[in-house]
Amino acid sequence: MDKLVIKGGTPLEGSIRVSGSKNASLPILMASILLEEPVIFRNVPRLRDIYTTNKLLGILGCPAEFEGDSVYVKPCDLNPEAPYDLVKTMRASVLCLGPLLARLGEARVAYPGGCAIGARPVDLHLSALEKMGAEFELDSGYIVGRCKQLTGAHIRFDFPTVGGTENLLMAATLAKGETVLENAAREPEVIDLANFLCACGADITGQGTDVIRIRGVERLHGCDYRIMPDRIEAGTFMVAAAITKGNLLIEDCPDDALDAVSQKLRDMGLSVVSEEGGTRVKYQGHLESTDIVTHPYPGFPTDMQAQFMALMCVADGFGMVEETIFENRFMHVLELVRMGADVRLVGRTARVRGGRALRGAPVMASDLRASASLVLAGLAAEGETHVQRIYHLDRGYERIEEKLCPVGADIQRVPE
Ligand code: UD1
Repeated sequence: MDKLVIKGGTPLEGSIRVSGSKNASLPILMASILLEEPVIFRNVPRLRDIYTTNKLLGILGCPAEFEGDSVYVKPCDLNPEAPYDLVKTMRASVLCLGPLLARLGEARVAYPGGCAIGARPVDLHLSALEKMGAEFELDSGYIVGRCKQLTGAHIRFDFPTVGGTENLLMAATLAKGETVLENAAREPEVIDLANFLCACGADITGQGTDVIRIRGVERLHGCDYRIMPDRIEAGTFMVAAAITKGNLLIEDCPDDALDAVSQKLRDMGLSVVSEEGGTRVKYQGHLESTDIVTHPYPGFPTDMQAQFMALMCVADGFGMVEETIFENRFMHVLELVRMGADVRLVGRTARVRGGRALRGAPVMASDLRASASLVLAGLAAEGETHVQRIYHLDRGYERIEEKLCPVGADIQRVPE
C-alpha cells in the first residue's frame, strides 16, 4: 500500500479544480438499475468507491464503463443479488435495494456491517420500504426483500437520513401512486439524484425541501447527465488554502452547497469570494478559532468536521467541535495530537486549544475525512508527515497529491 510523504510549510497559491461529487455519483449510478435504456454520466470522479459501484452494477446486470470522466451504463438482464464481497468494502452498496425492488420486485443485498465511524444501521431504509409494500427477512447475512409492486406511501423519517431518502426516492419513481417523504434529507446530492431521475422521466417535486413528492411513472428512459461538483472536496481545498496561509482559486466550486463552510471560514478571518472562474479563498493575516456543531444540511457537514479541526489546531484561541451525526467520528484526534495538537475529547465534543505549531510525524487514519484532515495538518506542519493507509483517502479524493502539488504542496506518493 502507498503512503503520502508531505513536507509542510508552503502557502498554496494558484488554481485548483474540483472533481465530480462522489456522494452524488454513487446513488445516481445506482439509479441506472431503474432505467430501460442506456445512460451517460459526465463528470464522474475516478475513485475507488466508483469503481466498486461500476463492478456492482455489472453484477446486477447493468454493465458500467468509464471513458475519460464519463461512465456509460447499459441496463440489460437484471440480477437481484449484491454480494457481500462488494458490499463490505462500500456501505453505499445498500443503495441498490430500492431500485432492485422497484424494477424486479426482489433484492438480495448483503447487510452492510459496521464501519469505522459507527454502527450505521439501515433500519430507516427498511421500515420506509416496508410502508411501500416490501417485506424483508435476514438470510445468511443478506437482506432479502420482496414485493409484488411497490405502492406509494406517506413516509415520515425519524431522522433525515441521506441514504434512506435516496433509496426511497429511487424506489418511489416506479411505484404505483404517490409517495410523500417527510423529514427528508435536503442534501445537494439528494437534489442532484432527483434532478437526474426527472431528466429520465420521473415525476418528483420538493427536492431540496424536507417534503419530497414522487408520483410513480410506468418507465424511465435514458439521458446524458452531468454530476454536480464535489462540495466536500471543494471544502477540503478551501481549508488547504486557509491552513497554509495561502490563496487558492477553486474552480467548479459548488458555492451554494457550501454556505455553512464558507461562513465558518469567514468567521475565522479568511476572505471567501466568488469570482469569475471559481471561488477564491485567501488568508488575510490572521486566523481565529471557532465553534462547530455538525448537523444535516444546510447545517455544518459532518464530512468537513475533521478538516476544520486540523485548521482549528493552528488558529488562535479555543474552539469546540461537536459531532451530532456519527457516534465515533474522532479518529483523527489522537493522530493530530501526535503532531503536536492540543485536543481533548469529552463524549461527542472535542475541545481544541489552538495556536500550536504542528510538527510532522508518521500518522494514519481509518476513515476518509480523518485522512484528509491529516493531509491538511501535514501541509501546515514543520518537517515531514507520513500519512499511511491512504487507501481511505483514495476512496474520496481523486489523486489528491496531483491536484495539490501544482499549487505549491510538496507531497509524494511512495510505497509503504
Ligand atoms: C451519507 C454520506 C456521508 C455523510 C452522511 C451524513 C454518502 C455515500 N455518504 O451517509 O458521507 O457523512 O450522509 O451527511 O452519501 N442512520 C440510522 N438508520 C438508518 C440510516 C441512518 O440510524 O437507517 C443513522 C446513521 O447511523 C448515522 C446517521 O443516521 O448516524 C446519518 O446517516 P445517513 O444520513 O443515512 O448517512 P449515509 O447516507 O450513510
